[in-house]
Amino acid sequence: MPIIYDSKQKTFKLDTKTSSYIIHVYRENYIVNLYYGALIPDTFVSKRVERSTNASFSVANPAIGGYDFSPDTAPIEYGCNGAADFRISALSVRNSNGDSTTDLRYIGHSIYQGKPELEGQPTSYLNDKSEADTLEIYAEDKVTGVIVTLYYTVFADQGVITRRAKIHNSSENPVKLERALSLCIDLPDMDYDLITLYGRHNKERTVERRRLAHGIQGVESKRGASSHCQNPFAAIVKSGANEEYGWCYGFNLVYSGNFTAMAECDYNGTTRFIMGINPTDFAWNLGAGESFDTPEAVMVFTDKGIGEMSRIFHRFYNNNLVRGEWKSKKRPILINSWEAAYFDFDTKKLVDFAKAAKKLGVEMLVMDDGWFGKRNDDTSSLGDWYVNEKKLKGGLSKLVSQVHDEGLKFGIWYEPEMISPDSDLFRAHPDWHVHVKGREPMQGRQQYVLDVSRKDVRDGLWQMMYDVISKNDIDYVKWDFNRNITDAASAILPAEKQSEFFHRFVLGTYDIMNRLVTTFPNILLENCSGGGGRFDPAMLCFSPQIWCSDNTDAIERLTIQFGTSMCYPASTMGAHVSACSRTGIATRGNVALWGTFGYEMDPRKLTKEERDIVLTQVEEYHKYYNLIHYGDLYRLVSPFENPYYAVWQFVSPDKKEALVTKVTVKRDEIHRTFIVKLKGLDPEKLYKCDITDEVYSGAALMNAGIVLYNYARNDGESIKLYFSEV
Ligand code: GLA
Repeated sequence: MPIIYDSKQKTFKLDTKTSSYIIHVYRENYIVNLYYGALIPDTFVSKRVERSTNASFSVANPAIGGYDFSPDTAPIEYGCNGAADFRISALSVRNSNGDSTTDLRYIGHSIYQGKPELEGQPTSYLNDKSEADTLEIYAEDKVTGVIVTLYYTVFADQGVITRRAKIHNSSENPVKLERALSLCIDLPDMDYDLITLYGRHNKERTVERRRLAHGIQGVESKRGASSHCQNPFAAIVKSGANEEYGWCYGFNLVYSGNFTAMAECDYNGTTRFIMGINPTDFAWNLGAGESFDTPEAVMVFTDKGIGEMSRIFHRFYNNNLVRGEWKSKKRPILINSWEAAYFDFDTKKLVDFAKAAKKLGVEMLVMDDGWFGKRNDDTSSLGDWYVNEKKLKGGLSKLVSQVHDEGLKFGIWYEPEMISPDSDLFRAHPDWHVHVKGREPMQGRQQYVLDVSRKDVRDGLWQMMYDVISKNDIDYVKWDFNRNITDAASAILPAEKQSEFFHRFVLGTYDIMNRLVTTFPNILLENCSGGGGRFDPAMLCFSPQIWCSDNTDAIERLTIQFGTSMCYPASTMGAHVSACSRTGIATRGNVALWGTFGYEMDPRKLTKEERDIVLTQVEEYHKYYNLIHYGDLYRLVSPFENPYYAVWQFVSPDKKEALVTKVTVKRDEIHRTFIVKLKGLDPEKLYKCDITDEVYSGAALMNAGIVLYNYARNDGESIKLYFSEV
């Protein structure tokens, strides 16, 4: 049983195949964390709780007596504000008396097979009830009447625990949540590095590693989206941990809005990590009897290094996060009109694209921005989701059927949560944009944000989307989000609820996405936000793939894709070959194969030589599809650490095949003899390399390695080596 309750010791033990997590109910019903780390058989670990001899100005609960236990130093499971736990807290409740002291104590628990639903928010899910077990711990703050349910769902076979909290106001008075986070974890030391993913538009998810120090450190978003600038991912790893070795804790928030992910090292040399909705610009009113649910957070632990942490995330997301028809259905190779035509297209041009692309083996045409209202540049028409018949003469259905007649699927672009000041929608509804009364709102890309926190706005928007999608045979939708939120307020929320706006906006987005995927379950949805500005687990619950970045330069994509792979699998990473010419088309293809493959160029303009390469790429996409999408990724040489080349490898789950890709960023004479050791193979199996025809044991390939020196003559060259069992 992955969850056991030891009533003698008053401990809960949550075991996965890689980790143990132990919670203890201490005296006076304090809920404390005894252990999270590599699997251990014990249900109790002493000496973790009472350590206040080191405390600074010890404060203690007189009901316990003495100073052996202090909330100031104890590993409190869900840290709250005000009652002697001075660290960064997970919960802070402003009660009707005006103070914000919150002191949670255990009142009960339940353990059951399965996982409870979370209404209105995306979460991981079970394919089968037996896949996971859940522990609910109930805790109460006696004075405010706030009851918190801490949910822990243990995916034992996956090495994953998901967490979230429900905060319920059981009193007769209103309270205000000023912080309500998804997870809090106290680790017994501070000998760790924090790994996070920073970036910006065109340079998403750059891996950054820093040593933890005393004080608070971490990342957050206040941009109304999970954002390009920081991803809601953080790993806390032992200082020496690398791809192969060392303790690693990985955390990822299933949320698309403002988040915080902070570590605090206290004077006692312990580390608290918290993750959840960013408390800045957040306060939630809980009337008598009302509840608030935090988003879900995913926790991974492994003692086998950062690479294994990533692979646990990848398997979990492929199996328990991505859903719907397209979870396991092969994704079509697409060609997107954006970089080929921008706003300048008509029916003929798109059908010509389809015809030329068809000959290359491409399977879907995506009509990007510019098909609606009077949109010929980015100054107008967002919100006017009706077809521009000047461009698409005879209407959308004519275009769709012509593309279908060519044997290609058809996809369309939307940016639903936006409104152009120059749009019929804005003229008809001048209060439908996100704005503060009396202030001229900021513009981003000449647009405002549509206030989807409002149900009437969502209904109006959905009607427009439904009209187009239901009347045309649409196979795919690209859902974009091209600015961040400023002037955060809604025209219809009362003053005391404006602090709820950001979260309400995110819930509104989920609602429309949910309408789309449930009304049209056959449609493949691809998220996008100026590239990868909303690449997060919540979006993956709606769209199995997300456009990784507007930057399609193969060399720059290396760091973007290496960074993205910290927790997101190849099956989710939108990667296209574009006309961007720093490297040859072959390398662009080799890099794009590490993702949901497609093209972003005018297929009519390819040379004969390029067409031949594309035909090979298409063949390879099909050949390696399962290996890349569902195989195990090994980051052999990281472009963050090596300026000369990047090497990565996929191994099939049955270890019968492997694909190694090397991209030479900068040819370097000093590194001529370059040996790379493969990973994850079966040492006993014999593998043949398709390029050299040599046969080696898995043991030799992993221990002696292969020499890659003679495979690059120029910067930007690349090579793939395919190994199959003989
Ligand atoms: C964003 C997307 C691009 C494209 C444009 C269209 O930048 O990331 O792929 O769809 O919008 O305006």
